[in-house]
Amino acid sequence: MASSVHQQDEVIKSLLAQIAALAEDEGTPSGVLANIASAIHYTFGYHWTGFYIVNDNKLRIGPFQGPVACTTISKGKGVCGTSWAEARTVIVDDVRTFEGHIACSPLSLSEIVVPIFYGNKVIGVLDIDSDHVSAFSSSDANWLEQVAVIVAPLVYMLCDKN
Ligand code: SME
Repeated sequence: MASSVHQQDEVIKSLLAQIAALAEDEGTPSGVLANIASAIHYTFGYHWTGFYIVNDNKLRIGPFQGPVACTTISKGKGVCGTSWAEARTVIVDDVRTFEGHIACSPLSLSEIVVPIFYGNKVIGVLDIDSDHVSAFSSSDANWLEQVAVIVAPLVYMLCDKN
């Protein structure tokens, strides 16, 4: 057990280093964010991994990996809109019990949504879905919040500035 926790820590440490390096790449912001979504998605075999970015006072779908998903989410709606409205990470162990969950895919069973900040304003979210229940823990919140800090300048380039 101790060794598998240690191995998991090592995987996350090297993934965070990879994400920091990808964020320095010369690609367009959307291309770089797509690469970062891909790195997270394929490291853990998630069902859907991507960014929603605030434009025109809605969350609009940004770069992602996974099946086709809903394009527009209002503030306070679903897990993503709740994370935006409350400016906090939301973990849902079983999406079937979350009132107002927006089901983009019937295969999605648990979800984590992490807000991305410019100052204290939410400019987007990082959304990850798993096809297992209870896939996300507070330690996932911790490292994904570090990802949110790394990607914030890229997301800022894609959000509207109103
Ligand atoms: N389930 C999300 C919608 C986005 S998809 O999961 C990609 C929600 O309730 O906000």
